[in-house]
Amino acid sequence: MTSSPLAPDWLAHPHDADALPSPIWPAGAARTESGEIAFAGVPASDLAARFGTPLYVIDETDARTRARGIRTAFQTEAARVGTSCTVYYAGKAFLSIEVARWMAEEGLSVDVCSGGELAVALAAGVDPAHIGLHGNNKSLAEIDRAVAVGVGVIVIDSAIEVERVAEAAQRHGRIQDVRLRVNSGVHAHTHDFLATAHEDQKFGVRLDQGAEYVAAIRAHDSLAFRGLHCHIGSQIFGSDGFAESAARLLELHARLLEGGAVPELNLGGGFGIAYTTADDPTPAPELAAVIVDAVAAECARLGIPVPGLAFEPGRSIIGTAGVTLYEVGTVKDVLVSIPGEGADAHPTDSVRRYVSVDGGMSDNARPALYGSDYSVRLASRASAADPALVRVAGKHCESGDIVVYADYLPGDVQPGDLLAVPATGAYCWSLASNYNYLGRPAVVAVQNGEARVIVRRETEHDLLARDAAYVGPDSLGTLS
Ligand SMILES: Cc1ncc(COP(=O)(O)O)c(C=O)c1O
Repeated sequence: MTSSPLAPDWLAHPHDADALPSPIWPAGAARTESGEIAFAGVPASDLAARFGTPLYVIDETDARTRARGIRTAFQTEAARVGTSCTVYYAGKAFLSIEVARWMAEEGLSVDVCSGGELAVALAAGVDPAHIGLHGNNKSLAEIDRAVAVGVGVIVIDSAIEVERVAEAAQRHGRIQDVRLRVNSGVHAHTHDFLATAHEDQKFGVRLDQGAEYVAAIRAHDSLAFRGLHCHIGSQIFGSDGFAESAARLLELHARLLEGGAVPELNLGGGFGIAYTTADDPTPAPELAAVIVDAVAAECARLGIPVPGLAFEPGRSIIGTAGVTLYEVGTVKDVLVSIPGEGADAHPTDSVRRYVSVDGGMSDNARPALYGSDYSVRLASRASAADPALVRVAGKHCESGDIVVYADYLPGDVQPGDLLAVPATGAYCWSLASNYNYLGRPAVVAVQNGEARVIVRRETEHDLLARDAAYVGPDSLGTLS
């Protein structure tokens, strides 16, 4: 079979439209004898029948294994060059009480960037000393609470924050550990990085102003300076951007050592994962040795000790562990005219099959927000039908409401089938909305053949409960 002319260049016509390539799917995903996909031993049809669709499914063992693997790899490599490493789980990728507990149990600290995320980590019982707080505009109340509960480190992002955190720490009679977020000028994404002198962006302070900010921090008895912090981007497939950024930061770090202790260096998160067969990221644990070696070599060049290291991965821990299950509602073939090439070429017609599901941009905003590509498989059965190019669309009143721009599904896909979209563990639930008054889906954890709800589905009552004119469930008719 040949590829559809509407398929993007990176998408090959599949030999098997039922296959589950391992870098994209959670470790526990496999087809059962009957042909449907089971997640950690729980068949897709059972999950849909018990919990409804759309449904976020998280493979707990997969998430824990990745968390442990990344933490161990960075700590082992750091020990090799005579230093330590703290690995924070970046809660913004996906945070619930259960997931925060998994991360703490796997020996990770937790990075939060709002009062709400802090509340989740605290509710999970994460030791506040193992929480880091970020953000370019933390409110006074957020700073006050973080200091009061004893958050381990606060990342300072502006001159105003130096004063705000110092004042809160003084008021609470504490000495607060802080980092300074600097903008290294390195911007990385997938295979490339861009290195500029200065960047026009909201996070952090310029490298050449870093010493000034650190002097301001050191002038406060209520603050203890721990080190520099930066985050160079997301979905990074290699180590070069991290190495360049570390080299730039370490120049400043070395100068700061002349004025006092600088115990650590935080290089942020951003390790990439595979969303489609076109993606080939080097897994984060495999990057650990190269990044740590680059830091150690730069420290040797500068004649300074290797500082304690810190990283903040999110997506690379939870992204691949998550899959979203949807039910197909409608299938429709749309005739698309493809312009010909050359002066007297004629357009040709091709068909794009739109498969509409019961969720969409409210449970996965990334395609609409960033044009992100995803993959899709028929989950409730296997099929020998010839693969057809499909576009999986959501049910929102928005033409940009696409879940999967392009993949092949068996040509007999039909209403009632379940579809599974992999690699939705990160930045899907956390970016979810109630657009068009759709309730946010439940999150179910699967492990060893068992499934349990870790966040329940939103009901219509939940959706209306904050509306001041709502008089209660009796007003919702029989659908309530
Ligand atoms: C400061 C900071 N740290 C860590 C992360 C996590 O990045 P990722 O999930 O790509 O690893 C982010 C993501 O935006 C971030 O802004």
